[in-house]
Amino acid sequence: MTQDNSQLMDGSVAVEDQPLKKLYIETVGCQMNVLDSEMVVASLRRQGYELADQLESADTILFNTCSVRENAEEKVYSNLSKLKKFKLAHPEKILGVMGCMAQKDQQIVFDRAPYVDLVVGPGQLHRIPELLTRIESGDGSQMAVSLGRRDGSQEQIRRSHETFDPLRDPSMRPTPFQAYLRIQIGCDKFCTYCIVPMTRGPEQGRPPELIVEEARELARQGCKEITFLGQTVNSYRHVTGNHKTELADLLEQVHEIDGIERLKFVTSYPKDMTPRLLQTVRDLPKCSTYLHVPAQSGSDDVLRRMKRGYTTADYYDMMDRIADLLPDAAVSSDFIVGFCGETDEDFQKTVDLVQRCRFKNSFIFKYSVRPGTRGADLYEDDVPDDVKSRRNNELLAVQNAISQEDNLKFLGQRMTVLVEGPSKTSVKRGETGPVRQMMGRTNCDRIVVWEGNERQTGNMLPVLIHDASSHTLFGSVETMEMTPSVVSLPTMT
Ligand code: SAH
Ligand code: SF4
Ligand code: F3S
Repeated sequence: MTQDNSQLMDGSVAVEDQPLKKLYIETVGCQMNVLDSEMVVASLRRQGYELADQLESADTILFNTCSVRENAEEKVYSNLSKLKKFKLAHPEKILGVMGCMAQKDQQIVFDRAPYVDLVVGPGQLHRIPELLTRIESGDGSQMAVSLGRRDGSQEQIRRSHETFDPLRDPSMRPTPFQAYLRIQIGCDKFCTYCIVPMTRGPEQGRPPELIVEEARELARQGCKEITFLGQTVNSYRHVTGNHKTELADLLEQVHEIDGIERLKFVTSYPKDMTPRLLQTVRDLPKCSTYLHVPAQSGSDDVLRRMKRGYTTADYYDMMDRIADLLPDAAVSSDFIVGFCGETDEDFQKTVDLVQRCRFKNSFIFKYSVRPGTRGADLYEDDVPDDVKSRRNNELLAVQNAISQEDNLKFLGQRMTVLVEGPSKTSVKRGETGPVRQMMGRTNCDRIVVWEGNERQTGNMLPVLIHDASSHTLFGSVETMEMTPSVVSLPTMT
């Protein structure tokens, strides 16, 4: 396809007579990776790329990877080996591996898949356009990775992990009116099981003025909901001279921006859930009352070996503070089951913690040894896989029962939902035209579905809840109760 001097979606202009190149990008891992992929696409659009739906039709294929557990990595290597024949049959196509596994494995990626052209760590993504040009001009395979945690001065290491966040591409977002905004790079907590401090480098709070400007740009693009991202997002701090900015200050500043209607932040660290932050969330109406604060385990022995930096008593104190200042908040957690030395008694304490804290939901993972972490050196991965699976299922069942029970409390309530779009279920024909099952989220991050239509997408709607499962609330939209911004919508009852 050729396009002359035409406007691309991000407002950039394709170079005259230069055919558009096609990019296929596949993303796994956390929200950081989703955001990184958005930025890489934005930067490559400026180089005349457009997105391909199919891998086979792309000129450049990128895998954005995650290293947090072994199976996430093995999936990528297996995808790469499936692509070997294809790549050898089409040597002109560029195959790249970016993200955390690229940073962690570096040369190993080329060793395991020698037909890969490009390896780029998450701190070097801004170099992708230049590296692709080099590959195209015949310079051979290229690698750009950040410095290891001991491979230079603190300043050099930090610089090598910088990001290029202001480039945004609405078409790459989960929806155009919801966006992630990174406020913090890296992590310094060094939990003994975790690879992230190695792949994402030292913790750095991004300058507040850049964050606020980026939030303004997102609002100009029509974004209504911003989720601040950081590995320990509530530990965010930025100091210039005598002036210190914390997460609460950022929330206050971004709250002022017209067009932004909802603010969230993930992932929080239990020790830094301060009264001031909770009060700020309480007092700013745009702040979502949803807190993701992983506990990881309910056993103090396990928490100590994980080097999480808190005890269960500290965690319970934090839950009391939340209950006191934000009684309606929904709290969710992550857990690792089968960490080194975890006994049945330790596991039972985790079950007890889940029962006492009554999380909205929990993400539960089986421990996966990560070479390069302290945990891999210090402790033996001694819990058999079948025990890990059993504990995983048991904890999930306990959590699901709690989620189901707590969701029933919303029956008969009217909840304001930001409509994200059609849910995955099929289109039905209704009396007033095509009726779809729509999906959105409440202020406390609960998923709601109802029968509506696609014109509702992007609006805040009041939904009356009449049924609930452990993961979903089911409701209906009462047209008489609509908020002014949606009054003009056709009736659909
Ligand atoms: N920064 C976040 C978590 C990032 S990783 C935090 O501190 O909470 C996301 C989740 O993956 C973690 O909360 C943890 O539960 C899980 N995880 C991290 N390393 C893991 C490992 N080696 N094996 C299994 N799960 C792991
Ligand atoms: Fe990993 Fe711990 Fe940092 Fe979270 S806080 S990213 S679990 S080291
Ligand atoms: Fe995975 Fe990297 Fe995120 S290891 S969880 S993609 S920070």
